[in-house]
Formats: sequence, C-alpha cells, structure tokens
Amino acid sequence: MIRIEGRDKVTGRATYAAEYPVKRLAYCYPVQAEIAHGRVAGIDTTTALAMPGVLTVLSCMEPPELSPEADPELALFQRREVAYRGQFVAAVVADSYDNARAAAGAVRVAYEPASHDVRLRADHPGLYKPEKVNPDLPTDTEKGQVAAGLAAAEVTVEATYTTPATHNNPMEPHATVALWSGAGDLTLFDASQGVTYARNIVAQALGLRPERVRVVSRHVGGGFGSKGTPRPNAVLAALAARAAGRPVKVALTRHQMYDVTGYRTPTIQRIRLGADAEGRITALEHEVAEQSSTLVEFAEQTASPTRIMYATPSLRTAHRLVRLDVATPSWMRAPGECPGMFALESAMDELAVAAGLDPVELRVRNDPDAEPASGLPFSSRNLVACLREGARRFGWQDRDPAPGARRDGRRLVGTGVASSTYPARRLPSQASASIENGGYVVRIAAADIGTGARTALTRIAATALDVDPDLVRIELGDSDLPHASLAGGSMGTASWGTAVTLACQDLLRDGKHGFADTTEILRTLPNLARHAFGAQFAEVRVDADTGEVRISRMLGVFAAGHIVDATLARSQFIGGMIMGIGMALMEQTVTDLEFGGFTNRDLAQYHVPVNADIERIDAVWLDEEDDELNPMGAKGIGEIGIVGTAAAVANAVYHATGRRIRDLPITPAKLLL
Ligand code: MOS
Repeated sequence: MIRIEGRDKVTGRATYAAEYPVKRLAYCYPVQAEIAHGRVAGIDTTTALAMPGVLTVLSCMEPPELSPEADPELALFQRREVAYRGQFVAAVVADSYDNARAAAGAVRVAYEPASHDVRLRADHPGLYKPEKVNPDLPTDTEKGQVAAGLAAAEVTVEATYTTPATHNNPMEPHATVALWSGAGDLTLFDASQGVTYARNIVAQALGLRPERVRVVSRHVGGGFGSKGTPRPNAVLAALAARAAGRPVKVALTRHQMYDVTGYRTPTIQRIRLGADAEGRITALEHEVAEQSSTLVEFAEQTASPTRIMYATPSLRTAHRLVRLDVATPSWMRAPGECPGMFALESAMDELAVAAGLDPVELRVRNDPDAEPASGLPFSSRNLVACLREGARRFGWQDRDPAPGARRDGRRLVGTGVASSTYPARRLPSQASASIENGGYVVRIAAADIGTGARTALTRIAATALDVDPDLVRIELGDSDLPHASLAGGSMGTASWGTAVTLACQDLLRDGKHGFADTTEILRTLPNLARHAFGAQFAEVRVDADTGEVRISRMLGVFAAGHIVDATLARSQFIGGMIMGIGMALMEQTVTDLEFGGFTNRDLAQYHVPVNADIERIDAVWLDEEDDELNPMGAKGIGEIGIVGTAAAVANAVYHATGRRIRDLPITPAKLLL
C-alpha cells in the first residue's frame, strides 16, 4: 500500500509535536550542567529575569513539585547533585523561543565539582552483575562447560570486539507542547513512540492519576527507541506550563538531544569459540561490559542473541555493568541484538577462516534444532534458507576465500556474510472498531513513528473485515484511544494488529461496535522460541591508499513470518540495513573524558549514511508460515534489518584487505594503521 499520510507529510500538512497551533504559547529553554559530576552551589537568575519577555525561571534551587516516584531522569530540578554533563539544572520560560534561549544563556550557575568517571573499560572495578537485562532477560546463562568445550576443540577463536556509544538521530527532534486545563488536567503534544505508556510515566512523575493526562502524538518523525520513553522535554514542558500559567513548548535542539534523549551504550565484548575439525561448535562464550548512569540502571541485552543462534554443547553468556557519570543509555534500534551480533558474527567469520570453512557453510552446519540456551522449540526458524537464498542471489559460489585476492584498480574488493535475528514478541493492546458514516473506524493508541503503522493497520483491519482498505480509517496516536503498547521491540504490528483483528471480528459479530483487549490471550500462549532470522551479504571496495570503504552491494534476506505489506516492509528492512552501514563505517559518539558528555553532538560531526553512501542495496524475504505468532502470522521487521549488517561489512573488509577490524566504526584511520 501507499502510505496513507504520505501526501500530508510531503505537503507539510501532517502535524508534528512542535507544530500544534496553540494560543498564548510560551517557550522554555533548558540550562544544562557544565560539569559531569558534583553539585550546584547556587544559581543567579537576576539578569535572566530582567531580560525581555522572560516569564519565569525554574531551577534546582527551588525544586518544583514532582512525585518522589518520578523516574530519576525525569525528576527535573529535584536535587542539586549533577549526575552527568548536559543534565538540565534550570530552564527559562519566555514569550518567544529566542527570548527564552537568550535568557537561558544569562542564567549564572555556580558548581561544586567532584571528580568524574566517564570511561568504560573491561577492567573497571565498578563492574557488577545487574539483576536482569533489558527488557526482562536473565543477566547470565550457562549450559555445559565452556572450558571443557574449548579444550576439546580443534579450532578456537578468542577475541574482543568493541562498539562505541551511538545516537538515534531521528529526523524530527524531540519536542513537547504542554497545556493545563482550568481543572488541572494536562495535555501533551509529544514526540512519542507510545502515548499510553508516555501518559502513565508522565502522570507518575507529576503525581497525577493517569486519566488526568492526555498525550497526543499523531505523527512522529522517527524514534528508533529514543522516543520510546518520555524524555525530560515532556516533564519540563508540563512544569513550565504550570509555572507560567500558560501553554509552553519545549523543542530540543540537536545538541540537547545528544545529552538527554538516550544513546546506545558502548560495549566491550569478549567471545570465545571452539569447534571440532568439521566446524561443529563445541563451546561458545559471550561476555559483555557496558555502562549505565548513576541515576538509572539500564543494562543492554547485548549477549542475548548468542543464546539463540548456534548449536553447541557448552554455552555461556554474561553481562556486567558499571555506573558512570554519564547520561542513562537507552534503546536504539535492536538494542542487544545489534551490537551483540556484530561480535558474534565477526567471531563466526574468524572461526570460518581458522577452520578453513566457507562462512555460509559454517553457519548452516551449526543450525540448532531447538533454542540453544533454553531448549525451547522454535515456532519457525529459517536462517538456513535465508543463507542459501542470499548466497544464490549474491553470487557467493564464485567467491575466492583468500583475503586480498580481488582488486579493481586502487580498490580492494571483498564480500562478507553475517546472520541476523530478532525476537518476535507481543504486548497487550486494546482496539475498538465501529461503523460510522458508511465506513469503518478503528481506534487504537498505537504510534506511527514513520514505519507506516497507520497503513499496515488499515490493511490488517480491511483484511479482518473483508472490505476495501479505502473504507477503513485508523485513528491512532492519542492516549484517549483504547490503550496500546508502544512502537518498540519490533512489536507494534504484532501487538496492535492482534487487537485490531479481534476488534474487527467483534464488530462483525455485533454489527455496530467491536472491542478487543489482548491481555488475557497473551497470558496463555504456548512457550516457544519465536524469532525472525535473516542473512546479510555485503560487498565492499576499500581504497588501498586512503582506507576509504565503499559498500558497492548489500543484500538482506529475511524470514519474518507473513509480510503484511511489501512496500512498507522493504522500507523497514532497507532502512535498518542503511543504519547498520552507518554503524559499521561512521557512527560514533565520542565521550569527552576531560569534561564529561560527548564531544560530537550534531550531524556535522556525527556522521550517518546519506544517499551518496548507498550504492546497490536490496532486501528480500522468504514466505514463512508460522501459526504460533498472531492472527497475521507476522514477526516484527522494524529492527532485524540493522542486526548483522555491521558484521557483514566488517567481514567483507577482512576479505578485501586481510585486516580484521574488531572496533567499530571501521574508519580509514584504523585500516591505514
Ligand atoms: Mo526500538 S529500539 O525497540 O524503539
């Protein structure tokens, strides 16, 4: 289908959070901590308050009323302690954005700095074992004896892989417009991946009953996880509007987003792999060190994909976390799987080289019958079919395995492969369906974050009702609608689609109105390993003189259940793969060791792939029948495209040059060293 809101978006009629026309709107601009750790000694607002248009100043010197239950990242101005550089310590409200910004620059903050620690290292004495890892997975798993498996192995690989901090960079910056009614009800126009969840969290922070808060987010210009949880801008807008007695907008700059809207933790990952003479894995171990803030424990599930990928008698995964004077890391497209599979799939390539085996064949040979760590049967698993189909389409059979064997003028040419995977989960959601004015209206507090959710749900509803999609209208992005899970974890279509299908079936029974709540159904699902799989193939050309890497071809083959809509799915897969190319070659946020925070905080210095970086790229999928998923038979597709991409590129760079780069991104400097 063609995206339903596409015309509205390209003609500028689609309204994003910062764009809602609101009367008597005031503007709020934050003041950010200039130290990484310590305490605010005092704040002088005299000059700022005397500046044109200034209405009020909020700061930690006079903490605004918030609930003690507020998430520490959202508990604005409650304490004078500074947890990281860039944290909001004050904010100015004024009659215009420019006046607010100018006055924010005139707020004088005095600090009592303390020494800070912002550097993740594998031997950090503060590393500890968190209770669980995101979203709710065991921190460690252990099966068999890794030491024994390694001792019995014919070939072993032991290597450390590192990935840097990276940022989401959605096209639409985070923004919130807040309005309080006379009765004390709050409405937020917010850039959010889930309005029901955002409403609950903001209400909790403000100490309000959830019914008193409404969050509206009809169009969202990308999120990738950074808008999955309410950000300080949402609470700041609410506090500022309450203090100023009029509606307030907080529109973050790109610089501010780097500080307060989350990022992917850097990781240090050690893999130990052993295999017998035929390449059958005898031992696999994946240990991860990563960081969180002193405010909130966020532990990325980086080793989690290693629990499900390959058959092995001994398997150990472990996560360790250290709390640093940094902002809290959070979700970024395929948290866990994305950095974890860079390490595992690089190590598998190293094992293939060490064992003298084709890397596709090595993966095929180690495909498990059941999920390795849990022993659960798979609802469906078609990794081997993806690898085989990809190898066929990509022309893999002609590959000379010797590194550095192909040259095209100055450029060394190589190809690489990696597997990808992502869980197929669902969360409870509600939906309603009714007949109005001769058409069908389906209501659900889902989020369309640019994925095409509105369009996919229209198609799902039309299928359930057996009517033309033109007769169906979806209303989403408003917490007053039936409650829904967030657009995250590649769960949107599966979670909302189930509720929409059931609501439509209920409507067909009732004749006028239908409603569904999937909470109970999800409680009784059989315990199976449900995952999507894929295979990524990359061809790179590495300039032997400059070290520049160009990706001349990239192919992804995916098995993700039933694909609801081909046009939308292709965009998701290719978008994920392009983001993976960014991860492989350019994306990194550099921690400022001297002052805390990040040194590069905009798109001039944080590089993402643009059209000129992408040559031939394609994504295809295999038809996969899986009755153990949901009424659509669909697995999620929002994140799997990024998983494995960076490893495929790194493996291709090795094949082109003979250089194994285990530290992302693969910059020219690393290749020329
Ligand atoms: Mo995605 S990182 O679950 O929004």
